[in-house]
Amino acid sequence: MILIKKSGDLLSHISKLRASNLRIGFVPTMGALHLGHLSLIEAAKKNCDVVVCSIFVNPTQFNQLSDLNSYPRTIENDIQLLLSCSCDILFHPEVTEIYGETLEKESTEDYGTFIHLLEGASRPGHFDGVVTVLRKLFKIVLPHQVFFGQKDYQQCLVVNMLIQRSFPEVKFNLCPIAREIDGLAMSSRNVRLTASERLLAPKIYENLQLVAQNWNLTSWQSAMNQAIENLSNEPFVFEYLSACDQNSLEELGSFQEDAIILAAVRLGSTRLIDNIIIQP
Ligand code: PAJ
Repeated sequence: MILIKKSGDLLSHISKLRASNLRIGFVPTMGALHLGHLSLIEAAKKNCDVVVCSIFVNPTQFNQLSDLNSYPRTIENDIQLLLSCSCDILFHPEVTEIYGETLEKESTEDYGTFIHLLEGASRPGHFDGVVTVLRKLFKIVLPHQVFFGQKDYQQCLVVNMLIQRSFPEVKFNLCPIAREIDGLAMSSRNVRLTASERLLAPKIYENLQLVAQNWNLTSWQSAMNQAIENLSNEPFVFEYLSACDQNSLEELGSFQEDAIILAAVRLGSTRLIDNIIIQP
């Protein structure tokens, strides 16, 4: 694996690979890698000739400085994990390499109403930061295909829109959520959970499953109410559990066969999100 820290070095390396007709797959991450990230690298390896993973803790997508500062940084371990799955290139730039001296971000105001719902409502400006960094990264990595996790479903819709608008030649791949044995969605933030919080955390997925298993005209609403109640008890701090349209993310007013159930809760100082897609 080649480790590259400078944008210019990566751009010229990629340009040579592209000139040799090699297909570039890209997996952007913020590091603290786990098997969920590695599943994206594996998907990229299957579909492309060269896989680039970026590790960059993007300051403009954090709402709170404390969250940015305490975001886990485990680069040595990350490198070992990337070697174990035969990643070809790691791009690990400094903040100034990507942003220069000012942390300016672009606006997603005109992306549509879905941008303001769910994560958009809980984390104002978050998607502005995500789009800003991805536009910069896509211009350096020049990928043929990009790989994103369903875990951050709303982010996937945002990235899809960025691609449609600005990078129509890039193929977007949605990859399934990798879970721990007890069902908890893998996340870089899970390491922050205390032992007792970690024991409770699988309840999020259990309650998403409760809704999915009762997804029919007569039971869906009572299942939703039950799941909301279950995730509203201490020590959970409930943020949302919503049954939404898969494209618009608007909350369903009446039953429909396909949907997505998305949840966000806090356990102590850790914010966790998860979702289940319901297909007819
Ligand atoms: P990060 O949280 O590191 O996630 C990087 C990618 O891994 C995202 O596409 C995310 O959805 C995916 N991922 C995380 N947990 C997963 C799991 N359990 N199963 C499958 N995929 C999972 O998302 C970001 O970084 C940033 O916003 C980024 C896109 C890199 C822009 O800064």
